[in-house]
Amino acid sequence: MASSQNRTTFYLPWNECLSIAAVLIGTYTSYKYYKLCKTQDIPQPKGGVEELIGNTPLVKIKSLTKAIGVNVYAKLELCNPAGSAKDRVALNIIKTAEERGELVRGEPGWVFEGTSGSTGISIAVVCNALGYRTHISLPDDTSLEKLALLESLGATVNKVKPASIVDPNQYVNAAKKACDDLNKEGNGVRAVFADQFENEANWKVHYQTTGPEIAHQTNGNIDAFIAGCGTGGTISGVAKFLKEKAKVPCHVVLADPQGSGFYNRVNYGVMYDYVEKEGTRRRHQVDTIVEGIGLNRITQNFHMGEEFIDESIRVNDNQAIRMAKYLSVNDGLFVGSSTAINAVAAVKVAKRLSPGANIVIIACDSGSRHLSKFWKEAKEINHDISLEEIMNI
Ligand SMILES: Cc1ncc(COP(=O)(O)O)c(C=O)c1O
Repeated sequence: MASSQNRTTFYLPWNECLSIAAVLIGTYTSYKYYKLCKTQDIPQPKGGVEELIGNTPLVKIKSLTKAIGVNVYAKLELCNPAGSAKDRVALNIIKTAEERGELVRGEPGWVFEGTSGSTGISIAVVCNALGYRTHISLPDDTSLEKLALLESLGATVNKVKPASIVDPNQYVNAAKKACDDLNKEGNGVRAVFADQFENEANWKVHYQTTGPEIAHQTNGNIDAFIAGCGTGGTISGVAKFLKEKAKVPCHVVLADPQGSGFYNRVNYGVMYDYVEKEGTRRRHQVDTIVEGIGLNRITQNFHMGEEFIDESIRVNDNQAIRMAKYLSVNDGLFVGSSTAINAVAAVKVAKRLSPGANIVIIACDSGSRHLSKFWKEAKEINHDISLEEIMNI
């Protein structure tokens, strides 16, 4: 009895109770938020559009994986802000020019390029993000949607007559000349020629970023890597990295469209395609519906990685068109023509790999870039097209 009489009871003032409760709730909420961010990988805010470039997702192509028993993953370069792998190249070309003092952030500067493809669009977007201007020379028969896109991005567009690379008015030569002319004026405006085919900032950025990302995303277990070759920057940079650093030996495959010379160059050491024979040359150097890949000359960016390419697989236009439709209806992957070529090559390579092996292909751009040409044909393909039908054409 005595002890209960002596017991002292402490009461906390209730405003202190409230403070303690607030601290506890705050800590718990922060912990929950931290866990949510960790588990869902919610990206942190970025300081500008240029910081959104790279770190693209890797996604399993479920339909192919199920059908062939080998894991096929697509590296979604189409998720870059200007819609293709060329964003990385545009940014690195500009950063390299800045390091050399050829462009200065905050001061007037122009980037010139001769291109009818994705690179012009990426350069225009990156220039806009960094405060520079863009000048693109292209053949006057370039598709209207690409012209409209470049003009909408504010690029100056210089249309020239289609011509051979030895002609001074060919669009790449025209771009270089326009750049040189502006530099000669000497009015304090800096100008650089991007020169994606020869500029080594191209393959280097794939060696420094795309390759390491793929190795990280596959935990180094990549049995085959497949990409097409336009400038050669992607395949050279990624192949060099994977050969040097991946955990398991990686078989590097160049997927080549019909009419391109890389197939014979890689497999037999000779850059030649039968369409090159006298009297058969057409308007386009590479006679295919596929855009962005295939070439009949050796570029510096291809040369830098040639020793790391094990094999080339040729894919015809009919296979590419049908594969694009197959990936769209079976996986929800709406891709451009070069990605479809890579996917066909993946199915061919898979036959030589053990079950459960990992293949990574590059998904360079989206089908929306190819609506008026490639997808005009692909959309007509039967919804139920089978993989066997595609591979047996
Ligand atoms: C759609 C598309 N896929 C693939 C490539 C090939 O990439 P690279 O130039 O790195 O060889 C290009 C190049 O322009 C492209 O536009």
